[in-house]
Amino acid sequence: MTKIKIAPSILSADFGTLRDEVSRLEAGGADYLHIDVMDGVFVPNISVGLPIVEAVRKITALPLDVHLMITRPENLLSAFIQAGADLLTIHSEATPNLHRALSAIRQAGKKAGIALNPGTPASGLDELLGEVDLVLVMTVNPGFGSQGLIPFTLEKVKKIRGLIDSSPARPELEVDGGIKLENVELLGRAGADVIVSGSGILTQSDYGRTISELRAKAQRARFPGNR
Ligand code: DX5
Ligand code: ZN
Repeated sequence: MTKIKIAPSILSADFGTLRDEVSRLEAGGADYLHIDVMDGVFVPNISVGLPIVEAVRKITALPLDVHLMITRPENLLSAFIQAGADLLTIHSEATPNLHRALSAIRQAGKKAGIALNPGTPASGLDELLGEVDLVLVMTVNPGFGSQGLIPFTLEKVKKIRGLIDSSPARPELEVDGGIKLENVELLGRAGADVIVSGSGILTQSDYGRTISELRAKAQRARFPGNR
């Protein structure tokens, strides 16, 4: 049985006390640390870049799940790998050279993820499932934390769960955007393996407890028979 993973997004962290935030998340049982990189072009916002990935790499042993919301990610893959990323997720909408970029990540010995915006159909995934370690389904339009989950994306998560289950490849299915204690069951039921949550965790006083509750709720919803 798959064990659901929780990936807190540091987009909602207090960057003035980032070391403390990261250690609270790590001590709280996070499985991955999700880092949102935005370039102001692919998405209408700018967040963090290489220096933060590098700094975080030095203060945690958690796998760094780097979500690149940038155009032409292929130009910066080696820089992010050098900075310490373990898993690099690029958007299918961000480059015409998707397969080449995904292969470059794997050739460098890192895990490759492909992300789909809410409006991007699941159909393009068929050919690439064997080439990736993770599929990220955006449940909000990328660019900002604290947005509301877009309901139609749940059907897409289910559909992609089906695609993955009927393929010999077994990439993890990650979901990102607007996920919190109140709605995490919906994502578990839809078949997610990895739950990203930013404001859903970092606005709570007890990160560890929130992470455990998110995981338990998603796990029960995903595998209702196994209690
Ligand atoms: C949105 C980012 C998300 C964001 C999620 O563009 O990709 O990872 O941090 O934040 P919440 O969980 O607050 O919606
Ligand atoms: Zn993200």
